[in-house]
Amino acid sequence: MERVGIVGCGQMGAGIAEVCARAGLDVVAVESGAEAVEAGRRRLEGSLGRAERKGRIPDAAEVLRRIRVTDSLDELADRTLVIEAIVENEQVKADLFARLDKIVTDPDAILASNTSSIPIMKLGTVTGRAGQVLGIHFFNPVPVLPLVELVPSLLTRPEVVDRARGFAQEVLGKHAILCKDRAGFVVNSLLIPFILAAVRMLESGFASRDDIDEGLVRGAAHPQGPLALADLIGLDTTKAVAESLYEEFKEPLYAPPPLLARMVDAGLLGRKSGRGFYTYS
Ligand code: NAI
Repeated sequence: MERVGIVGCGQMGAGIAEVCARAGLDVVAVESGAEAVEAGRRRLEGSLGRAERKGRIPDAAEVLRRIRVTDSLDELADRTLVIEAIVENEQVKADLFARLDKIVTDPDAILASNTSSIPIMKLGTVTGRAGQVLGIHFFNPVPVLPLVELVPSLLTRPEVVDRARGFAQEVLGKHAILCKDRAGFVVNSLLIPFILAAVRMLESGFASRDDIDEGLVRGAAHPQGPLALADLIGLDTTKAVAESLYEEFKEPLYAPPPLLARMVDAGLLGRKSGRGFYTYS
């Protein structure tokens, strides 16, 4: 898997492109439109520049040279692994997988999704190669967090899971865990209801933002509180994942609270938009 394609060069896609390039792989990252290509490039330069200044990599420019950011999906034709990291929307992702199936020429190539909650089966079955489709779910920030969840659908071939595990562990140096194809996988099934409970607590006036977050940081040794974490994930993504979990299990604890929905309507998406539960400069 030396030729990797990433679709979406936002928070997650850029992080995945970065770790692949840092592992010496040739990367093509696809964004939608010239402006988004430029934003993706800036995101990569910023992150790799910081890694160089902190002494984590010797030469950011050398890593950047291995990543081509483009707005043409056709440039993924020769890839042996494509990882999708676009918006968390089932129809949009399914349309993309149907197109990737036609574009990527190697029949052994793996088509993976970084989705947090959409059933892999829904993405596999729109292609003619459901056996080659699986979830490879990274964590934010990708260059820092070591976990990857591998999510085969009922149709994914075991050999494909083995190759994905080898890629995650041996090539990228991540730790892989295996999950069934159920919305939320392991980590978000536990994390999202926790974050939603914090939003409900704030919404009801039970406790203030700072007291909720401080409570978990100082009382439970969490590195950051649940509201700060929601801002980091992105409130749009948090809401979308909650909706998928609710759709799958119909459990009230997964239903996005009105405050979260209103904040997303208002464009208060967290760190990526400059304001969520906190304000960022
Ligand atoms: P984001 O909003 O930062 O980035 C999404 C990017 O995809 C944007 O730059 C957008 O321009 C691009 N895009 C949208 N449609 C496209 C298309 N058709 N072709 C090419 N590019 C397209 O979102 P983020 O946070 O990077 O999330 C991406 C995926 O990763 C989602 O499925 C999300 O659930 C998943 N994820 C997110 C995590 C997080 O903490 N934010 C953690 C793990 C997974």
